[in-house]
Amino acid sequence: MCGIVGYVGKRQAAPILIDGLYQLEYRGYDSVGIAVSDGNSLEIVKKTGRVREIEGARGLRGTLGIGHTRWATHGGINVENAHPHTYQRITLVHNGIIENAQKLKQDLLQRGEIFSSETDSEVIAHLIADAYRGDLLSAVMESCARLDGSYALVVFCEDEPRKLVCARMRSPLVVGTGKGGAVVASDLSAVAEKDATLYSLNDGEFAQLSETEIDFYRSSGDKINKFPIAFDLEEGNSDLKGYRHYMRKEIDEIPDVLRLSRQKFDENFRNSDFCKVLCQTEYIHIIACGTAYHSGLCAKTAIERICRIPVEVHVASEFRDSDPILQSGTLVIAISQSGETADTIAAVRLAKRKGAYIAAVVNVKYSSLTRLADTVLYTQAGREVAVAATKSFNAQLMTLYSFAEALAAVKGRRAPSLNGFERKALRTISLSESVQSWVPYFVGAKSAYFIGRGEDMCTALEGSLKLKEISYLPSEGYAAGELKHGTLALIEPYTPVVAIVTRREIAQKTMNAVHEAYSRGATIFLVTCFEEYCGMDEVKASVLIPKCPPVFSPVLSAIPLQLLAYYTSVARGNDPDKPRNLAKSVTVE
Ligand code: G6P
Repeated sequence: MCGIVGYVGKRQAAPILIDGLYQLEYRGYDSVGIAVSDGNSLEIVKKTGRVREIEGARGLRGTLGIGHTRWATHGGINVENAHPHTYQRITLVHNGIIENAQKLKQDLLQRGEIFSSETDSEVIAHLIADAYRGDLLSAVMESCARLDGSYALVVFCEDEPRKLVCARMRSPLVVGTGKGGAVVASDLSAVAEKDATLYSLNDGEFAQLSETEIDFYRSSGDKINKFPIAFDLEEGNSDLKGYRHYMRKEIDEIPDVLRLSRQKFDENFRNSDFCKVLCQTEYIHIIACGTAYHSGLCAKTAIERICRIPVEVHVASEFRDSDPILQSGTLVIAISQSGETADTIAAVRLAKRKGAYIAAVVNVKYSSLTRLADTVLYTQAGREVAVAATKSFNAQLMTLYSFAEALAAVKGRRAPSLNGFERKALRTISLSESVQSWVPYFVGAKSAYFIGRGEDMCTALEGSLKLKEISYLPSEGYAAGELKHGTLALIEPYTPVVAIVTRREIAQKTMNAVHEAYSRGATIFLVTCFEEYCGMDEVKASVLIPKCPPVFSPVLSAIPLQLLAYYTSVARGNDPDKPRNLAKSVTVE
C-alpha cells in the first residue's frame, strides 16, 4: 500500500507534498516523511503516525521533493523504517513489496554496504546508487530489472538536482504537469488541479520529470507517446462539508450514488457489446475482497434467483492460488472499489490466462483493474475517503443488481423492479438514526453477532465486518440456521445479537434463531421490513426499513448496520475514518 508523491517546479515543494499526502493517507498512516531539495542540500523529515505529524516541515525550503505515507509491510513502525530512504546520493519513496529483497540485501551486505532500516525499499536505493554512473534514469532502469514484486517508485539523485525518475510495476502511479511544474503521485487526488495534464503509468514504464519536461520510457529505453487521462475535479473532491467524519458523510451520499450507479449501468450497457457476452453466459464466477466480496455474495443470491444461472463467489486471495475450473460460457466478474487490490488483480490475471471474459465492477477510473478487464461496469460512488466502505458497497449492489436485471432480459426472464431505491434509501437513513440508542449495548460488549438467512446472511457478514473494523469489537456474521451448530455457545447474558429479516418465506426461521439466542440471555436487535416483529417482547430495539423486493434488500438493510458501526466506533473513542492497522487500497498480496 502506501501513498507516494513528488514535485519539481517553480513553487516550494513542501506544502505541495504535505497537502498531497493528506489526500493519500487512505493508503496507510503508520508513518510519514518528506525529502526536499533546494538544489544544494537535501532535508528529510520523518515521523511515525499521520501526516499531521510533519506539519512543522511545511516551511522547508526547496522546489523539488518527494513524500510518503506508509502502511508497514517490511519492518516495524518506527522512524528508521519510514520513507524517504537514502543511500549515498540517492533518495527514494516506494509503494509495493520487493519479493527478492532479502536475497538482494544479502549480496549487498556481503559487499560491505550498511543498511539503516529493515525495509525492502532501502534495498532499491542501494541498487540504484551502485548502478549510478551519471544518469539516474539508466540506473533506475537497470535496478528495476533486478526486482521481483511490485513497486511504484519516485527517485531523486543529488547529482542531478532538478530531476525525478519514476517507475511502475503493479502499484499505481500518475504523472503530469501541474502546480507550476511536474507532479507524480499514487493517485489523482494528490495532484489534480484545474489545468493539470495527467498521465497514468503502465507496468514496466518509466518517467523522467523536470520542471519543464516529462518523458516516458519503456524498459528497453524507447520513448513512449502517452495520452493524458480525463479527470473530473469534482469527483476527487473530498471536502467534509461540515460533517465530523467522512464515513457519516458517505452514508448520507448513498441515495445519490444509487441513482447515479443505476443510470451509469444503463448507459454502459446500451453502448456495449457486453450484451452478446451475456447471451453466451452459462456460469459466473465473482472475485473480490473485503466488502466487495460481500457485495459479490449479495449478487449471487440475486443472479441465481432471478436469472437461474449458477454463480460462485471467491475470495480473491484464495482464487488466485487455486486451480479453478472455468469452462466455456464462464463470465468472471471482479468487484473492487479501488481497482487496485493486489489479490483481486492477481486473480483476474489467472482467470484471463484461463481464457475467461472479465467484467470489472470498479469505482476508481483508470485504476489497474479497468485496464485488465474486457468490460468495465463503473459504479458511481464518487471518491470514498473513509477506510471502511459504505456508499461504495451500496453502489456495487446497485450495479450488480442492474446487471442481474440485464442478464434476466437477455435470458428471457423477469426481474423485480429496481425503481424507487433512491427514495427508499433516503428514508432508511433517516429511520436508522435510531441505532444510536443501540450503541450503549455494544460499546462495552465482549462480542457481537449478526444473523440472517439468504440475502440477509450476506448483509449480516457485511454488518459484522463494519463493526469489527472500526469499533475493534470482536463480531461474527452468521447464517441464522447455523447458530445452533456452534456459535450459540458464545451467547451470554447481554450479548448483542442483530438479526436481519427481509424475506417473508424464511422470516420465521430467522426468528426461531432469535428466540434461541434470547433464551440464552442475548439482547436482540432487529433490522426488518415486517412491523409485527418489531413489537415482540424479545426485541430490545428495531429499525423498520421500507419494503422492497427481498432479493435487492441488502441495498437498504446494510444502512442501519453501517450507522451502528459508525456510532459505536465514535462512542468507543476511535477514528472511524482511519481504523488501526487497515488501509483503503490494499496493493500488497
Ligand atoms: C480493504 C478496505 C475494504 C475493502 C477491501 C477491498 O480491506 O479496507 O474496505 O472492501 O480492501 O478493496 P477494493 O478496493 O478491492 O474494493
